[in-house]
Amino acid sequence: MSTVTPVSTTPSQRKKVTTLTFRQKKERGEAITMLTAYDYPTAMAMDKAGIDSILVGDSLAMVVLGYETTLPVTMEEMLHHARAVSRGTKSAMLIGDMPFMSYQVSVEEAVRNAGRFLQQAGMDAVKLEGGRERADAVRAIVNAGIPVVGHLGLTPQSVHQLGGFRAQGKTALAAKRLLEDAHILEEAGCFSLVLESIPARLAEMISKQISIPTIGIGAGAGCDGQVLVTHDLLGLFERFTPKFVKQYANFHAEMNKAFTDYIDDVESKRFPAVEHTVEMTDDEWNEFVKSEK
Ligand code: KIV
Repeated sequence: MSTVTPVSTTPSQRKKVTTLTFRQKKERGEAITMLTAYDYPTAMAMDKAGIDSILVGDSLAMVVLGYETTLPVTMEEMLHHARAVSRGTKSAMLIGDMPFMSYQVSVEEAVRNAGRFLQQAGMDAVKLEGGRERADAVRAIVNAGIPVVGHLGLTPQSVHQLGGFRAQGKTALAAKRLLEDAHILEEAGCFSLVLESIPARLAEMISKQISIPTIGIGAGAGCDGQVLVTHDLLGLFERFTPKFVKQYANFHAEMNKAFTDYIDDVESKRFPAVEHTVEMTDDEWNEFVKSEK
């Protein structure tokens, strides 16, 4: 029988999840769980459920703010939502997603903006998109003492360059470049790597070749962990659902029903009922009525 204590424990006795936890989980072959959150109640529910890590993703732009792409969301907006998530979280590792143009212009800006996620929003780490072209930024942020998650494959901030939200690494040449980028990001100091929408066997090979844990989204079961956009998982985002999503609930339909029931109750005067109503004593009421005469 194994004497190794699993890193995962019941949520009530959970310790803070750190970069060390990530490494240990990979070493022990335990799957790392990650989901996105953008607000306090969702973060709280996830943390209580025992999620390892919460990503305040720039998918915020699309699934919460209603933009067509992730490009418009700003540092200020990301920090605003990251603060709410951090107020709802006790144990999960918190990762702030660096928005478009917060790290591409210069290495100095990248370090400063990464620092803001930790200093002003209670995040434990940051994530940024891109391969070899981001190695200098990753190195500088890590040198500042900030843990970094890399992101390869379908990198939504490059949607216009990629010609749409499409799977990556499907040719031998593209696969080779992705594998090289994974090694470069590991060497630059990333403690983990998101692999989005790439062939499962390529993701598995990358996961085996690098020592840092890979977190897959549309990258198959061979990754060291999995992440989903929570609004996809809950069925809250109606516009489209990527093929790789498993939908665990249909909250859009649930919300719709709750709202139509409410409208119906108010219009038919079933709400508010007595139990939803505040009252005062007869004595106080009579005194008040008398004083008004
Ligand atoms: O912004 C996001 O939600 C992400 C995930 C898709 C990994 O980057």
